Amino acid sequence: MRKAPHLLAPSILSADFGHLDKAIDLINESEADWFHVDVMDGRFVPNISFGFPVMEALQRRAEKPLDVHLMIEEPERYVDRFRELGAHVITVHYEACRHLHRVVQQIKSTGALAGVAINPHTSVSLLESILEEVDLILVMSVNPGFGGQKFIYQAIPKIEQLRLMCDVRNLSPLIEVDGGIGLQNAERVLQAGADVLVAGNAVLNAPDPYDAVARLKAIGKEGWHTIPA
Ligand code: DX5
Ligand code: ZN
Repeated sequence: MRKAPHLLAPSILSADFGHLDKAIDLINESEADWFHVDVMDGRFVPNISFGFPVMEALQRRAEKPLDVHLMIEEPERYVDRFRELGAHVITVHYEACRHLHRVVQQIKSTGALAGVAINPHTSVSLLESILEEVDLILVMSVNPGFGGQKFIYQAIPKIEQLRLMCDVRNLSPLIEVDGGIGLQNAERVLQAGADVLVAGNAVLNAPDPYDAVARLKAIGKEGWHTIPA
């Protein structure tokens, strides 16, 4: 079963980087739980986001855990540095690691929580051999690389399948879902079994970001509005 209540991790990828302090303060002061930090290298994904200087700014100012999502090739080269810069969770992509088990052990040896992410086309059944080693599985619900994309609904049965895989093995890594999440689909994602929702555009580009966070956090508090399919 999913652990309630769920966590919300706004992605600072959707921040106005001319006013990064403002976005950090907003997340600090809101009901959000984590900072989601999207690092892209222009190789694993067709976009470059930011690197260590932004991480340093977050380390100085953020008052909540830093959930670092590495969309980069050879992430093992940078795991230790991200931990030194205050990462609480370090997630690497299944598709980017030649020796995934080794990278997961490396992350754990730094003291960070270890996460593994899968792209929309990657089957959750491929996680079977790593499931008991990880603290978090991140299910991508868009193709990684950009904020503000449309949610891919095939992610829902994948979350359900992953939740079942964990339950039958009596394992409880956090299940995080990332991409295109907003009020229109968050409840369905939680019903499927997610523990952590990432939201970039739906929070930081909302007319009232505090209200957007409060609404996304309130889902499920008084029961579901719809019967799970
Ligand atoms: C996509 C990133 C996501 C993204 C989320 O590559 O991993 O974290 O920024 O942003 P939205 O919620 O706008 O899809
Ligand atoms: Zn992300």
